[in-house]
Amino acid sequence: MRYQYVLFDLDGTLTESGEGIKKSIAYALSMLGVPPLSDAQLDKYIGPPLYTSFLESGVPKQDISRGEDFFHDRYHEVGWRENRVYPGIPRLLKSLRKNGAFVAVATAKPQVFAEKILRHFCLADYVDRIVGVELDNRVSEKTALIERALPEGADRAKACMVGDRLFDMEAAKATGVFPVGAGYGYGSTEELVRSGAEWVAGDVRDLTDFLLGDSPAEPGWFFTFEGTDGCGKSTQIAMAEQWLSERGYETVVTREPGGCPISERIRQVVLDVKALGMTDECEALLFAASRAQHVHDTILPALRAGKIVLCDRFLDSSIAYQAHGRELGESFVRQINAPALKCRQPDRTLYYSVDADTAAERVRKGSQPDRIELEKAAYFDRVRRAYEALLLTEPNRFRRVDANRSISEVFEDTKACLRDFLLDKE
Ligand code: TYD
Repeated sequence: MRYQYVLFDLDGTLTESGEGIKKSIAYALSMLGVPPLSDAQLDKYIGPPLYTSFLESGVPKQDISRGEDFFHDRYHEVGWRENRVYPGIPRLLKSLRKNGAFVAVATAKPQVFAEKILRHFCLADYVDRIVGVELDNRVSEKTALIERALPEGADRAKACMVGDRLFDMEAAKATGVFPVGAGYGYGSTEELVRSGAEWVAGDVRDLTDFLLGDSPAEPGWFFTFEGTDGCGKSTQIAMAEQWLSERGYETVVTREPGGCPISERIRQVVLDVKALGMTDECEALLFAASRAQHVHDTILPALRAGKIVLCDRFLDSSIAYQAHGRELGESFVRQINAPALKCRQPDRTLYYSVDADTAAERVRKGSQPDRIELEKAAYFDRVRRAYEALLLTEPNRFRRVDANRSISEVFEDTKACLRDFLLDKE
């Protein structure tokens, strides 16, 4: 790893916070009766201290403090959430920490907001120290923030400051810390180089390679979602995807059977209601064939790229539906799936348990049933019992979610399972 101490600016470096900041500045200016600024003008005010931005936008000195109050009113209410983490940031922070780096955030934002944002976006657990400005001391000096962010006695030659604006680069130079430009943020590469950046990252992947050097990056994670038909897991996957993306996790959503062009064609065959004469063995082999191609084409490449794979059904479905539902036995089903399982087992499997009646009602209300959904209740009882047994044999991998509740209640549990895993809270 290149640096022992890695400091990050927040806006434009860890989070793409432009929308909330620009809307709140525009609101403050309108409340002060100052003519509105163009979007490009507002762009320049993401990152620098508010005081400087208001001065440059023509706010009379005596009104600046009121302007800051207006800004904070709106920002506190809604602006701080109009924000998203740049893709790849959590993986970068986690990798730095795992390799022993001290990671801190040094931002011209008030301390309370910085902490709130980092907590909301699940980044607070990845950093050792958060340094912002106290609310009553709004004129912030970035050099002072850097000094406070570094541990006492830290060797400056082993420290770097990553930021997207000239303030960050100038302060890094002034404090003897290596200035790294976040070229994907709100300042231009020209601004960064002019103000002292020694290296500029085009995107977070660049930055990760640069900061980690030869040290390993965190691998991707493999989450699977299981349950009987009608358990509502597809809705939960879509919501999980959005929640993770807002927090900077790079995701790939996929499904079985299917998930790549060849396996989607197998899906059409295996679920076709017209294929009523299909033998149980043929069915099991088709699911296994679809899985082998899917792992090769979609799952492994995504995991190698450090992404989070959210997969709607995987091997456990074949154990539940073919080994037990069709009564083909576990050893046969595991055997035919061996070629597909080149990747590791799922890191975590969320099992959505739902009562038989609720599930049947949801399937009835859903789209046209496929070949498997036409099966009798006794078949689904075997499937359900098989899942319950799997849960007991692998309690570390499985998490049960009660899916009889409303979508938003169930999602609270989905989120908690993902968060606990990703933040190593188990
Ligand atoms: P799908 O429309 O994806 O249903 P759901 O939303 O409930 O997942 O259809 C997949 C069907 O295929 C479902 O009934 C379960 C079944 N299946 C198996 O029987 N074995 C398997 O290995 C897999 C992956 C799915």
